Amino acid sequence: MKEIGVYIHIPFCKSKCYYCDFNSFSNKENSINDYIECLKKEIINKSSFEYLIKTIYIGGGTPSYIDCKYIEEILGILRNHYNISEDVEITIEVNPGTANKDKLEKYYAIGINRLSIGLQTSNNQILKSIGRIHSFEQYKQTIDLAKQAGFSNINSDIIIGLPSQTIYDIEDTINSLIDMGLQHISVYSLIIEEGTVLENKIKNKELKLPDEEIERYMYWFAKRKLEKNGFKHYEISNFAKPGFVSKHNLDCWNQKEYIGFGVSASSYENKTRFSNIGNLDEYIKNINTNSFEKNYIIEEKQTLEAEQNEFMILGLRKISGIRINDFRKKFGRSPLIVYEKQIKELIAQELIALDVDSIKLTKKGLDFANLVWEEFI
Ligand SMILES: C[S@@+](CC[C@H](N)C(=O)[O-])C[C@H]1O[C@@H](n2cnc3c(N)ncnc32)[C@H](O)[C@@H]1O
Ligand code: SF4
Repeated sequence: MKEIGVYIHIPFCKSKCYYCDFNSFSNKENSINDYIECLKKEIINKSSFEYLIKTIYIGGGTPSYIDCKYIEEILGILRNHYNISEDVEITIEVNPGTANKDKLEKYYAIGINRLSIGLQTSNNQILKSIGRIHSFEQYKQTIDLAKQAGFSNINSDIIIGLPSQTIYDIEDTINSLIDMGLQHISVYSLIIEEGTVLENKIKNKELKLPDEEIERYMYWFAKRKLEKNGFKHYEISNFAKPGFVSKHNLDCWNQKEYIGFGVSASSYENKTRFSNIGNLDEYIKNINTNSFEKNYIIEEKQTLEAEQNEFMILGLRKISGIRINDFRKKFGRSPLIVYEKQIKELIAQELIALDVDSIKLTKKGLDFANLVWEEFI
């Protein structure tokens, strides 16, 4: 059996946050039912008992925006058509303001065992200025309800470098999350995506971003504070209490295989990266006419060189870095030989360091990767 992760994309949101360019739509409630029917057909069409599902990640968009019965149906289809590992990690993304007590209890009852609840900041004024639909108080209420429902593996996302955000806001946000006893925290640096409302508001000088130096200070402040409070920094943007790393994400960074279902969901299988098309109506039409293959876009059939490069780039995202032996086991050669020139250059620039058994980012490398990962290496 082939161990695999599954990603399910739910592209609906109550309204669009100003900074977000994920493939998600508001005002498409009329398409939810058709979309879920197609998603289920796609899952069945791909089904095979050759797979053993180790992790399921229901992301978006806002999966918690749609009726819980759809999530239950999707998990039911997966259970009926695939082998599911006994210790499967099942995560769902939740936006406060779209999940009530009933929904959270149902999630728990249908086997979801990890929640990822988007906060972004504890400052209500900033939340409003970036188009979030909830207040900090609503977020806290969602966390309380989630705990009461039985959840003991909860992540929250925060963003640093938001308009008008100060170091005191970060301190306040981080302190609140620590006090709430979360198991996992993702700290993202704000990316100003092209064509978003936020980009426009910044261009018009309606909103102002903190200086890059202050943003970096926020990152290191968040890192130190979380580490002091028992969180392990295990990936550029991710911190977890012992035993609570995100298995799904870790598998992706370890170049393990996964299948994505739904619009724009990406997959990695048989050394091939591909994704579904992003257009909701076309996705639905193709499935309803049994033209499943029309939804696939092959992004890359990897050569050995491409596979090795990707292994290195993904591996460097982890704070523990790339284990030299893992590379050797997978590719039969030492990365120190394959990448001798690049490694020497990056060491000279103080961006990476060599250990006895691993290659990892330095402090400078971490800052660099955080800001310009795409251009890194
Ligand atoms: C796809 S969203 C899904 C979570 C859920 N819809 C929510 O917003 O609460 C996942 C996370 O990506 C992060 N994110 C989205 N757009 C971003 C941007 N432009 N810059 C930095 N982080 C971003 C946010 O922290 C968000 O919680
Ligand atoms: S951040 Fe989350 S809720 Fe906001 S638009 Fe993006 S996916 Fe939707």
